[in-house]
Amino acid sequence: MSRAISLHSVSKTYGRSSRAVDRFSLSVAPGEFVVLLGPSGCGKSTVLRMIAGLEEVSEGELLLDGEPSNDLSPRERGMAMVFQNFALYPNMTNRANIGFPLKLENPRRDHTDRVESTARMLGIESVLDRYPRQLSGGERQRVAMGRAISRRPSAFLMDEPLSNLDAKLRNHLRAEIAQLTAELGVTTVYVTHDQAEAMSLGDRVAVMRGGVLQQVSTPREVYALPENVFVAAFIGTPRINLLQAVVHAPLEGRMSIDLGRQRLPLPEPLSADHQLLRIQQGRPIIVGLRSEAVRIAPRSQARPGEVALSGIVEHVEYQGHEALVHLNTGSRPAVVPDLESARPQAPQRRRARSGGTGVLERLKQRATGSVAVLDHPAEESYAVRSPDRPAVTASDLVVRTGPDMRLRTGGQVPLLVDLAHLYVFDHSGRRICPLPRDIPGLDV
Ligand SMILES: Nc1ncnc2c1ncn2[C@@H]1O[C@H](COP(=O)(O)OP(=O)(O)O)[C@@H](O)[C@H]1O
Ligand SMILES: [Mg+2]
Repeated sequence: MSRAISLHSVSKTYGRSSRAVDRFSLSVAPGEFVVLLGPSGCGKSTVLRMIAGLEEVSEGELLLDGEPSNDLSPRERGMAMVFQNFALYPNMTNRANIGFPLKLENPRRDHTDRVESTARMLGIESVLDRYPRQLSGGERQRVAMGRAISRRPSAFLMDEPLSNLDAKLRNHLRAEIAQLTAELGVTTVYVTHDQAEAMSLGDRVAVMRGGVLQQVSTPREVYALPENVFVAAFIGTPRINLLQAVVHAPLEGRMSIDLGRQRLPLPEPLSADHQLLRIQQGRPIIVGLRSEAVRIAPRSQARPGEVALSGIVEHVEYQGHEALVHLNTGSRPAVVPDLESARPQAPQRRRARSGGTGVLERLKQRATGSVAVLDHPAEESYAVRSPDRPAVTASDLVVRTGPDMRLRTGGQVPLLVDLAHLYVFDHSGRRICPLPRDIPGLDV
């Protein structure tokens, strides 16, 4: 029996500190797979532990199958939890480990069938009579999963269950978890800080930041229609390019977006969402360009809806099947706080190439304006670079190309920007465009 899980404006306060989870609301349908995603410390585990009953709800209400359940014991909730640090009993065989919850529930019954069918599901039949220390990390995590599912729980709660494994194994087990939970049809809440994992596993993804839910949507929708600049920056690889900009809406002539040294002219007549930009005239905004919105090509090859920019090649990250070209277009990157703990930044090899003093780098950045800071009164400024993390590259735009394009560092390249893929966020970080109906292939 699969459970419906609902949280209504749930908060958690530890001692006297501020809220670790702040008025969090989410409804998970029976059999649904929902991923809680966000940087380290944003409250994901706390939400999960409140669902499990391992942590008391400070405010708000938890409903299980529609029944108020704040005060149920973990046992009464009938859920199974899998953690990052899977603790198996070292002096029990894997068979005994998997059967342990069954034995607790019903000591006299023979659980052999259930244990073996569970092991078959996980492909670990052959190691049942060994001890956990005789297994690889991946096998041990499968045994831990087996222990969690042997009871056929009403819900799975998984807290970064794959974080301790190497990349290859992680991908492998990720696919297995997807398959297993689909087969069992059990409601699953899965915590991760890895956006790729979240996107590939979740029916829906709930993005959190600082204890606050930012957006909960299908993977397609969080990518295509991020509610705000934080979600946009957290989801997708390479990370969306975010540039500080200002809208120019002259009484006569074309509206354009000022990106610093260059401008993006908006085509006439204005599209419905570009019209929304008119009221932003003169105010600081943030332009978001995913790598698929920009290509290296001359103006003569522009398709309808594409406008020209140019950039100077700062460095090229060769990836085998493609290359990521880091460019300087003379704009100022908008920086989103809270992201750095979760996502690796582009490699910072350039320091060595340019002399490696750091000071030179910074002077150069000042000259190109790439660390200039946008000053505005909004509470949350997305344009302020944290002082402990000075920028070491002067690139403000990362573009994907085929692996064979020959590009010279320091050389200028022509760019075409597809305005249909243009994201604009207001000074508080909220998305202004695109409007939902402008995203092809998305039913909203
Ligand atoms: N037992 C605890 N006592 C005090 N503070 C805690 C406790 N557990 C978590 N916190 C704090 O609550 C916040 C959210 O933590 P957590 O839910 O573990 O985040 P995440 O799982 O997203 O990394 C953090 O600031 C963390 O330091
Ligand atoms: Mg955690």
